[in-house]
Amino acid sequence: MRLKKIAAGALLSLGAGLAQADTVKMECGAGATVKSFCDYVKARFEAETPHKLQFIDLPRASDEKLSMLQQIFATKDSKVVDVMAIDVVWPGVLDRHLLDLTEHVKDLEPAFFSSVWQNNIVNGRVKGVPNFIDAGVLYYRSDLLEKYGEQPPTTWQDMARIAAGIQDAERAAGSRNLHGFVFQGKAYEGLTCDALEWVASFDGGSFVEPDGSISANNPKAIEAFKTAASWIDTISPKGVLAYQEEEARAVFQNGDAVFMRNWPYAYLLSQDDASPVKGKVSMMPLPRGGEGGQHAAALGGWQWAVSAYTQVPEAAIALVRMLADFESQRQNFLQMGVSPARLDVYEDAEVQAKGPHLTLLKEAFDGAVARPSTVTRTEYPKVSKAIWNAAYDTLSGRASAEAALADLEGRLKRFKGREWK
Ligand code: GLC
Repeated sequence: MRLKKIAAGALLSLGAGLAQADTVKMECGAGATVKSFCDYVKARFEAETPHKLQFIDLPRASDEKLSMLQQIFATKDSKVVDVMAIDVVWPGVLDRHLLDLTEHVKDLEPAFFSSVWQNNIVNGRVKGVPNFIDAGVLYYRSDLLEKYGEQPPTTWQDMARIAAGIQDAERAAGSRNLHGFVFQGKAYEGLTCDALEWVASFDGGSFVEPDGSISANNPKAIEAFKTAASWIDTISPKGVLAYQEEEARAVFQNGDAVFMRNWPYAYLLSQDDASPVKGKVSMMPLPRGGEGGQHAAALGGWQWAVSAYTQVPEAAIALVRMLADFESQRQNFLQMGVSPARLDVYEDAEVQAKGPHLTLLKEAFDGAVARPSTVTRTEYPKVSKAIWNAAYDTLSGRASAEAALADLEGRLKRFKGREWK
């Protein structure tokens, strides 16, 4: 096996057959079923190398996790973490705190989706290896749509109409807790993803364009924000203003929502034997923003990276290579339902049997819209916070869409200055 060869190579390089056993501290990523995957990783790593693996916890929400890592790295700490999952929007932000993996992983490149591999290259150096990819999708209750003779919606307007109709009829029939649509409305990184999807689906750009220009305040973006605000307290409970992914999933999986915006991980969980909606859930691309709009999914996903301050680089790199191989990525899908970043996993028979939705996901990735992290570089955390606050203010009625986006434009201009640094 390839990994055994590498582990043996790493050992030989320590000289004289000395099997040095290091302990690698790893953050295994967040998610509802992450534990079984972490157990698999530990068992394999400790069986196939002389090293030990210890897990550490970091906050689940992307932006909170980033703040925590920035605090840890600010002191050049080498004790807390060696290997961690980093968000697709972070390579540029964390760059100098991440070990240069180029020479250790460059042979792996052809196995991965090219755009995702490229996203981890900062100033010519590979700073991460893809773990899984994400793209926003729309989940719906196929049983309810069928019951009311509705087809899956093609536009957001259509979605809202169907959601309202089913919600009202089911409530009248006694299902008091049923909501039309749940999504991520809390002020955090997830809302930046949802807001980008609304705006891009109306053909209103991505707040900051790949060439660095600021496009946030335009009539299509305003229309998109207005559309989203109209869902609150009509088809979406006010509570969505506090929802992250897992809160939305809890409501949907409990059978209390007709539609849900979420990432692909929610599918396998919804099909669990204990799930009240097992066999009643379908997925489709997110709706278009009106007839002239387009299907737009935010691109998400996580990468394995090594701290630049690690004292166990060889063991950490051996771990990253193990995490990046076919079997790890296959297990990652089979146990967590997240979409493989490696192309060959999609060809696996067991994966195909468990994930008929994978074809849809592959399509969603092809057209996925990136958050403006590459162009805004180290300013991205501030940019994203300004975006989610503008969306939150609009959803909560604190500001009109016009005022929130004008304010966002002003902030983005100040962050940019003469050019994005
Ligand atoms: C998912 C995505 C990640 C995104 C996060 C927002 O974990 O993979 O890219 O930042 O959701 O909540």
